[in-house]
Amino acid sequence: MTAKNGARVVPPADPCCFVVFGASGDLTHRLLMPALYNLAASGLLPDAFSIVGVARAEMTTAAFCDGLRKALDQFATRKVEPAVVERLLSCVTYVQGGPEDEASFDRLGETLVAIEHKRGTRGNRLYYLATPPTAFTPTARALGRTGLAREENGAWRRLIIEKPFGTDLASAQALNRALLDVFEEHQIFRIDHYLGKETVQNIMVMRFANGLFEPIWNRDHIDQVQITVAETLPVGRRGKFYDATGALRDMVPNHLFQLLSLVAMEPPSRFDARSVRSEKANVLDEIQMITPEEALRRSVRGQYLAGRAGREDVPDYRATRDVAPDSTTETYVALGLSIDNWRWAGVPFFLRTGKALCARVSEVAIKFKQAPFAMFRHTPIEHLAENFLTVRIAPEEGISLQFNAKVPGPSIAIDGVHMTFQYKDYFESAPSTGYETLIYDCMIGDAILFQRADGVEAGWRAVQPFLDAWRQAGPEGLSFYKAGSDGPEEAHRLIGDHGRRWRPVC
Ligand SMILES: NC(=O)c1ccc[n+]([C@@H]2O[C@H](COP(=O)([O-])OP(=O)(O)OC[C@H]3O[C@@H](n4cnc5c(N)ncnc54)[C@H](OP(=O)(O)O)[C@@H]3O)[C@@H](O)[C@H]2O)c1
Repeated sequence: MTAKNGARVVPPADPCCFVVFGASGDLTHRLLMPALYNLAASGLLPDAFSIVGVARAEMTTAAFCDGLRKALDQFATRKVEPAVVERLLSCVTYVQGGPEDEASFDRLGETLVAIEHKRGTRGNRLYYLATPPTAFTPTARALGRTGLAREENGAWRRLIIEKPFGTDLASAQALNRALLDVFEEHQIFRIDHYLGKETVQNIMVMRFANGLFEPIWNRDHIDQVQITVAETLPVGRRGKFYDATGALRDMVPNHLFQLLSLVAMEPPSRFDARSVRSEKANVLDEIQMITPEEALRRSVRGQYLAGRAGREDVPDYRATRDVAPDSTTETYVALGLSIDNWRWAGVPFFLRTGKALCARVSEVAIKFKQAPFAMFRHTPIEHLAENFLTVRIAPEEGISLQFNAKVPGPSIAIDGVHMTFQYKDYFESAPSTGYETLIYDCMIGDAILFQRADGVEAGWRAVQPFLDAWRQAGPEGLSFYKAGSDGPEEAHRLIGDHGRRWRPVC
């Protein structure tokens, strides 16, 4: 991204080989290749670069490149320049193989050595696991057994994996153990693509690069925090994945907790991966541990019924393909959390996310405590508008502050007004997939935007009481909402019990 008043010069990444496992899949074609194309078009890929695609399907390099070319035509976020495409594809090789075929990893190793000689990539390798999560551990182990994970002679070897990092605390711990058997923590880059979004990164800059917010960023001045990620899209063709996962696992320990930790963490002492990730993990660890009974009181899980969301007629969730007809999987979740530390004691954090809702909105809203009303008691003013500072991630990216202003006229009247900053008014940015920054950062070894093992586990530890309580409760306690509404009624009751109300979604 460059400011309108001047370009920022960013050097190309280190020489390296980008090795993608699951190279025949959707992620590789729809997001990773367009992201690599954007990096190439912006001059951020090194001259000494190569791409090696690995998948189990039999395919020639030429056929693989044809597929990538078509994917770029279909999914590129910018105008496709043939010269850039050909330069990118000229450094692609396809290797057939998978973790259950050990010999294929030996072949991969030989191919990599030959490519490194030819292209001068210095032995630096980025292994991107774009495979189903079930293949993460076997692939990492195969890389370990064949010596491909070892860093030697000054060359780096890094591993990128995508969420889900487990499906509960125990499986997240098991995955971390398996990865750490082969790689060291500094080699592992866990992607939460939410952190590729500029506004999400800007939360830290807003808090810590300005003098005005931090003095009031605490329980003395903040009344509550609301984090909302609402989608209009229903589950659609992802029934198999979604019915086994649900809204809580899919969204909360990763995306919503990334937002929560950026808003609630203590100021890191340095802007580096160790300090930032330590503070983020600390605050997730401070989310209050609760009993299963409390978990039921502090949560609402909902499932959508037929309705109209966005521009679509949506059937009952249970009528979705690959969804069990008696499914109790939640497509909506709302939680009321507390953070057990000095800064946040007594400040409720309300989180909600759901599918097939009335609007697409992602935001963090911080509500400040009300000014004393006493001075207006004998005026016509009946109430003051709420003071919200809202960080908007979607649909438009920006920050807005709601405050009270005098309505012009002879008598005293007050109305809530908004002061709004929108990214697009100040900065130019080329349309992106959201993966460019993350891939580039991994290539230069900057792990600030990636999750560390302790942060992942702290997130799962905080949601585990809800998973346990819901499993025990079974269908009891599942609420329903009409597709195209703002979620189940019970969610209003949840926040109402704390004397607050949700910001409107629709
Ligand atoms: N697609 C997205 O938009 C998206 C977004 C965020 C995260 N992700 C994550 O990215 C990963 C890949 O998703 P995808 O949508 O690309 O899936 P996909 O289209 O099903 O592709 C999966 C790839 O992995 C390979 N594969 C399948 N089973 C394997 C196994 N047991 N061992 C080794 N390789 C195997 C497949 O090729 P072969 O069968 O030929 O080996 C294929 O290349 C998943 O973890 C997903 O959660 C995807």
